[in-house]
This record gives sequence, C-alpha cells and structure tokens, in this order.
Amino acid sequence: MSIVWDETLAVGDAAIDADHRRMIELIALLEGASADPPSDDRIALTLAELSALCREHFSREEAFQRTIGFPDHEDHRLGHEMLLKRLDAVMAHYADGCAEVRAGIVRTLGDSLATWLTTHITTSDMEFQPYVRGR
Ligand SMILES: [Fe+2]
Repeated sequence: MSIVWDETLAVGDAAIDADHRRMIELIALLEGASADPPSDDRIALTLAELSALCREHFSREEAFQRTIGFPDHEDHRLGHEMLLKRLDAVMAHYADGCAEVRAGIVRTLGDSLATWLTTHITTSDMEFQPYVRGR
C-alpha cells in the first residue's frame, strides 16, 4: 500500500486533518524506505518525529472529542494508547537491533502503519465526524 492524503480522510477539523496529513507524509517516507533505504539515523529521526506527533495529536484529538461530547472517547483513547505502545516497542527494537533486525523493521513498518492509520481514520475517527459537523 502506498499511503497518500485525500479528502475522503478529512474529518472536518482543520488541526486534526493537518496532523493526519503530516502523519501520512512520515509514514509514506517509511514505506518508501523499504525500496530505497535511507540512513539508520534518518529512519530513527522519522520514527521519533512520528512518535512525538502521534502523542501530541492523540492528546489533541482526545481533548477535542471530550469537548464535542463524543460518547465513545474512552474506547477511542484506548486505540491510541495501543498504537503508542506498539510504536515505542518498535523504536526500542530498532535502536537496539542489528542491521538485519533494522532492515526487517524498515521492510514491514511503513506498510503496517499505513494500514493502521487509514483504518483508524476511516473507521474510528470518522465516528466523530457528525459531532464536528454538528458544532
Ligand atoms: Fe483517532
């Protein structure tokens, strides 16, 4: 899969959509890395930026959901928490891994994050779109 932003992914809140766009850019970079591997440092920096952005974005989105009275915000928060734990584990694995482990991570990570994010936006995030529109 090659992840790209398009309007079908817009939930209708400018800040949240801008975060999703940047997350998609970073994940696309990781996807491209399996065909044309950049330096280990570049991958580590991309992972660090993605992790920081996810943390900031998820807190923003969770606060927003509480503000707009989205009833399933707790389930949604748990989905975010699981992704962050997974990302932390991958980053630790990458930092400590040998060249073979790192290559394995680069081969699979972009695709799996792309699948996670598009599924998350199109199913979970879209559940609060009517609350955004109703504001
Ligand atoms: Fe979300």
